[in-house]
Amino acid sequence: MRTIKLGTSDLDVPVVAVGCMRMHALDKGDAQRFVAAALEEGMTFFDHADIYGAGRSEEVFAEAIGMDSRVREQVILQSKCGIREGRYDFSKDHILASVDGILERLRTDYLDVLLLHRPDALVEPEEVAAAFDELERQGKVRHFGVSNHHPGQIELLKKHVRQPLVANQLQLGLGHASMIASGINVNMRSDDGSDRDGYVLDYCRLHDITVQPWSPFQAGFFEGVFVGNDAFPELNAALDEVAADHGVSSTTLALAWLLRHPATMQPVIGTMNVGRLRQCARAAEVEMSREAWYRLYRAAGYGLP
Ligand SMILES: NC(=O)c1ccc[n+]([C@@H]2O[C@H](COP(=O)([O-])OP(=O)(O)OC[C@H]3O[C@@H](n4cnc5c(N)ncnc54)[C@H](OP(=O)(O)O)[C@@H]3O)[C@@H](O)[C@H]2O)c1
Repeated sequence: MRTIKLGTSDLDVPVVAVGCMRMHALDKGDAQRFVAAALEEGMTFFDHADIYGAGRSEEVFAEAIGMDSRVREQVILQSKCGIREGRYDFSKDHILASVDGILERLRTDYLDVLLLHRPDALVEPEEVAAAFDELERQGKVRHFGVSNHHPGQIELLKKHVRQPLVANQLQLGLGHASMIASGINVNMRSDDGSDRDGYVLDYCRLHDITVQPWSPFQAGFFEGVFVGNDAFPELNAALDEVAADHGVSSTTLALAWLLRHPATMQPVIGTMNVGRLRQCARAAEVEMSREAWYRLYRAAGYGLP
């Protein structure tokens, strides 16, 4: 699979990341088949979080891949921390304890990337910096980033954090593209013109932070998959037609729409189905015209002023 550099780091990562949020529901055989297919497709980047399946997803993954020192060198592991029951927590103690738990469940002694999962209103950037320094010094984490953060929150962290923030994981896809629509509808009174994120997409491009679009196939906030969904007739008609032109499936094409964006994003897919995983892998090979990209944007219900 085609690779990109993650942020300003020298880490080469496959352009499509495999999200493991739903992996806790798989039995050992299905998990083994799924992980083997991902590796076969060159999808060696796995996205985790300490809360997925209350830690179970990380355990199922480590067991399925047969984690040992040889396997470890063939994969790139990212996990996230900071979400707790009923609160967010970026305190130094919590970050350090979370990483120890993640490493134990993934059966490894280092993470390639650690992300702060959702902004903590009580964040003290000095504490985050102290935690990152300790994790880096101990060799437990090689690269750091954030998730669901707007530019001001990143700037606040950067006031104290020394390490480059290499990624920002944000919800983005044809079913949730306000981050893109707001940049097209500047100064318009329509809903598409509402800025909900501080223009984070342009900020990340400016600062070479890789955007990792999460839930790329979901409409709204986990309201269901838009591909093949009768509630989105116009979008599916356009997806089917453009997909047929390219000789790929609508699933492949919906992901290719994100990869066509010049921000060189790394979408995080969530399927646990081997067939759909392989369709997602094909997205990295699609070359989409500007015309097709805008057609899908409009068919998804977003406007041009
Ligand atoms: N940072 C954050 O706050 C955050 C939040 C949520 C998720 N994430 C990350 O993003 C990853 C992806 O999230 P997600 O699972 O919601 O994303 P997704 O890829 O948009 O959705 C995958 C889900 O949709 C189903 N699906 C049905 N038809 C599909 C189709 N045609 N194509 C693709 N999937 C189809 C899949 O079922 P099958 O398994 O049966 O295919 C699976 O349950 C997670 O694993 C996690 O790593 C991050």
